Amino acid sequence: MKQIPSPRLLLLCLGALTNWALAATPSVSVSVNPSIQFQEVDGFGCSEAFQRAEDVLGKDGLPPVNQTLVLNLLFDQTVGAGFTILRNGIGSSNNSASNLMNSIEPFPPSDSSPSSPPHYVWDGYDSGQFPLAEQAYQRDLQSLYANAWSAPGYMKTNHDENYGGYICGVANTSCSTGDWMQAYANYLIQYVRFYHEAGVKVTHLGFLNEPQYAADYASMLSSGAQAADFIRVLAKTVKESGFELQLTCCDGIGWDDQEAMLPGLHAGPDPAIQYLSVLTGHGYDSPPSYPLSTAHKTWLTEWADLTGDYTPYTFYQDGGQGEGLTWASRIQVAFTQANTSAFLYWIGAENSTTNSPLINLLDGVVVPSKRFYAFAQFSRFVRPGARRVEAASSNPVVTVSAFRNQDGTLATQVINNATSSYEIDVKVDGLETGVSVQPYLTNNEYDLEPLAEIRTTENGTFKGRVPARSMISFVASR
Ligand SMILES: *[C@@H]1O[C@H](CO)[C@@H](O)[C@H](O)[C@H]1NC(C)=O
Ligand SMILES: *[C@@H]1O[C@H](CO)[C@@H](O)[C@H](O)[C@H]1NC(C)=O
Ligand SMILES: *[C@@H]1O[C@H](CO)[C@@H](O)[C@H](O)[C@H]1NC(C)=O
Ligand SMILES: *[C@@H]1O[C@H](CO)[C@@H](O)[C@H](O)[C@H]1NC(C)=O
Ligand SMILES: *[C@@H]1O[C@H](CO)[C@@H](O)[C@H](O)[C@H]1NC(C)=O
Ligand SMILES: *[C@@H]1O[C@H](CO)[C@@H](O)[C@H](O)[C@H]1NC(C)=O
Ligand SMILES: *[C@@H]1O[C@H](CO)[C@@H](O)[C@H](O)[C@H]1NC(C)=O
Repeated sequence: MKQIPSPRLLLLCLGALTNWALAATPSVSVSVNPSIQFQEVDGFGCSEAFQRAEDVLGKDGLPPVNQTLVLNLLFDQTVGAGFTILRNGIGSSNNSASNLMNSIEPFPPSDSSPSSPPHYVWDGYDSGQFPLAEQAYQRDLQSLYANAWSAPGYMKTNHDENYGGYICGVANTSCSTGDWMQAYANYLIQYVRFYHEAGVKVTHLGFLNEPQYAADYASMLSSGAQAADFIRVLAKTVKESGFELQLTCCDGIGWDDQEAMLPGLHAGPDPAIQYLSVLTGHGYDSPPSYPLSTAHKTWLTEWADLTGDYTPYTFYQDGGQGEGLTWASRIQVAFTQANTSAFLYWIGAENSTTNSPLINLLDGVVVPSKRFYAFAQFSRFVRPGARRVEAASSNPVVTVSAFRNQDGTLATQVINNATSSYEIDVKVDGLETGVSVQPYLTNNEYDLEPLAEIRTTENGTFKGRVPARSMISFVASR
């Protein structure tokens, strides 16, 4: 009988071969072509809505030195992540209890009529969001996105800022008090005006949040066609106001929900889509993994790990929802596969025991999470006005993206989700010899750690090494 090797023996031999190959350090080829350009980047950011700004600045605030630390971590490009987009909540509440955001028109006109003069009030504070926005602008904020979760209750079909309901006046609604669309549009412009008069520019305006979900907090429902009804009124009001504002819609709870609203925005003889600048969607129910059916810019305006499993120090453990590598990958996929121009986490900093912020302020101690550093790996080096450019990797477990900034610098992000380290051979089309490349590393041990500078050799090539379960941003100077 002929002797054949047992399967066990075969496996052992294979194992030995693999070990031998590993000893030689596997390599991955990355090619970047800056002349093939895709979408423009508007930036990265977060929100401090629902009185989270208070955690940083206000009634439950931090000592001044730690306030400054948090603001620098979020908005300063040298010390921190350099976020350039802040998403404010336009309050709809008639008081400031708990985490409510108070409205600039907490109560209806005395006769409850939409055409009677409104009683606007401005406290110069806006649940902490106004002073926070001022601080952010001092650190080079570019975009202030003011976004309402709901109209005040008296403008809605259910007479409540909570539990869904529709704006009185859009299709399929009928309210005894009448049509509140114009009053709501005036109200949103008044919010912008109060900020403007106090010296802070609102750049983007949205009137809906997760309109698929009747939450027990501020929430308002809408179909795409109903949103279109209101957008036509709002656009006209913006034009008359003279404010330069980019209108957004609709902050759908997931990417698919946002896609489902597009037909309504495109429909009719006066399509509402023409009045919008940015289509906005969230990542909860369905992630941004494909481009929305639009030629407009798209922003991922909210997403977070809301599971409550507090994991600030984990870049990678088991691929969990709160881990840094998970978010690094989500950002990369949103830009490379879903064509987004911006990516915003839910909360920037808050005093809580969950993963819903990027920076935790529990007991006044400032703890930037690995999610924060995953964001910073992008946001510090990919600046507003940058263009995503073509980038490819020879190994699917080592993923890449690349962006050319307006100042000529080129940032290439490499995420290695393998259990072993890889040598990376990068070739950048058109890059000269001798250009300086600065790598920054984040993983379980390091936070945005600058590594030894590299110089490009012939034809814009350079070599790096990316450890297991790690991310490196390679920033080539010009
Ligand atoms: C304040 O708002 C709440 C929530 O919408 C509502 O139930 C309540 O009636 C309002 N109070 C007044 C005085 O309007
Ligand atoms: C109004 O309701 C009808 C019946 O439910 C529905 O077919 C139609 O799509 C709705 N229109 C809008 C604009 O939501
Ligand atoms: C990507 O977005 C830009 C606008 O930022 C748009 O012009 C382009 O058509 C989009 N590409 C795809 C594939 O959807
Ligand atoms: C990384 O790999 C692990 C398996 O090793 C997987 O569970 C996880 O989903 C991967 N993460 C990403 C972002 O692909
Ligand atoms: C954090 O929240 C807890 C519980 O709500 C509160 O007791 C504490 O004062 C807060 N601390 C800070 C610094 O905001
Ligand atoms: C400020 O935050 C640091 C951590 O970043 C912490 O060590 C310190 O205790 C905090 N200061 C106060 C007064 O809470
Ligand atoms: C660099 O490019 C030139 C011209 O295309 C080519 O002849 C040369 O072989 C390249 N060198 C390397 C190291 O790839």
